[in-house]
Amino acid sequence: MVRAGGTLSGWVDSCPHAGWPLAMADRYLTREKDLILCAGHGALFRLEDGVCVAGPCAGRALEPWPVRIRDGGVETA
Ligand code: FES
Repeated sequence: MVRAGGTLSGWVDSCPHAGWPLAMADRYLTREKDLILCAGHGALFRLEDGVCVAGPCAGRALEPWPVRIRDGGVETA
């Protein structure tokens, strides 16, 4: 789950390159916090749509995971 600005998005924690979990040690974002980083081989994904913009799976995308804000809290499946 990523909250950026006023938007919230959720993604399955699996890289489309090799299916590995995205993070090691719970770090999911780049240092600038503007992209999702896969620790496996360095793929970078846009926060807003999960599309890979650099790395070995460029052009593919993370699988969405349903999340929403309800009554001030975050709900997920
Ligand atoms: S497993 Fe994510 S870039 Fe290779």
